[in-house]
Amino acid sequence: MPEPIHIDSRWAQRLRSGEQPDAADVREHLLAVHQRHAGFTEAVARGCRDAAGRNSYEWLAEVIDPSRHRTVLDLACGSGVLAEVCLQRHGDAIELIGVDMSADELALARRRMPNPGVRLHQALAQSMDCIPDAGVDVVLCHWALTLMDPIEPVLAEIRRVLRPQGILAAIIDGDIASSPSYAAVHDVIYSAAQHEYPCYANADLGDARVRTPEPLAALLRQTFPDASVRIEPGLVSLDGAPQTLAQEATGFFYASFVLSPQARARVLAQVATILCADVGSDGRGRFDMPIRRLVAQL
Ligand SMILES: C[S@@+](CC[C@H](N)C(=O)[O-])C[C@H]1O[C@@H](n2cnc3c(N)ncnc32)[C@H](O)[C@@H]1O
Repeated sequence: MPEPIHIDSRWAQRLRSGEQPDAADVREHLLAVHQRHAGFTEAVARGCRDAAGRNSYEWLAEVIDPSRHRTVLDLACGSGVLAEVCLQRHGDAIELIGVDMSADELALARRRMPNPGVRLHQALAQSMDCIPDAGVDVVLCHWALTLMDPIEPVLAEIRRVLRPQGILAAIIDGDIASSPSYAAVHDVIYSAAQHEYPCYANADLGDARVRTPEPLAALLRQTFPDASVRIEPGLVSLDGAPQTLAQEATGFFYASFVLSPQARARVLAQVATILCADVGSDGRGRFDMPIRRLVAQL
């Protein structure tokens, strides 16, 4: 994994000086992270597998039923891994659309899926004019709903583009407390961010309601009052040598991109120590990541 480039966006500068960043600062920050580190999500998420051997892209793609679903939108598709999984499973039986605000991520997605039949659009989830009303059967969103703020216009756009009986499904953060090692890694990284940016806790990316089941279900009821909503827990794990694992685990957190090089080095050492606690006789450690799969059936 390459050394991360420290991102000193206006969002980070505002946080450092104790100011509250606004939505435009958040977007600019996310774009800067994804410009410098395009594909960083897949670099970790593809290798994280659950007890059944599935990664979270595969678990999410299971909601597609090609006998009922034709058009699938990969919302915030990033480098296109989920769309590729869908294509590998269902080929010509489905039509794929990818939307993302980052041109750098979309360039990777296009390289992965040169087929012009896969439509890729650079757009904000809050305003998907590129997709007609009732134009899709399934909206999938892998690890991005938790970044979107404001979230209400995103849900309104999803409702607009979904056909009746459509499905919204997303991978979102899991229950941190369900994995002590994840909780410890999370704590190390966020404490370091909090130390360098005293307002970090109040300005984390996205809408906090999307990260916890009850507020998320309440939010969904506002937009999809008749939908049946399931929020299922999952656990995916990555294994490897502790030092490599520490770099991969740390690099998965957006907070790691705003740490100074010195703070990041300290964090890496602490994360490696946490992950060393689980090292087996083969010298390999494990990083467990709790996740959730949201499925809203209209
Ligand atoms: C953590 S990455 C996940 C990428 C991909 N879904 C994956 O899991 O590999 C988050 C993605 O969401 C995109 N994103 C965040 N906020 C967005 C918004 N409001 N509209 C469109 N894309 C957004 C980012 O550009 C980035 O590609």
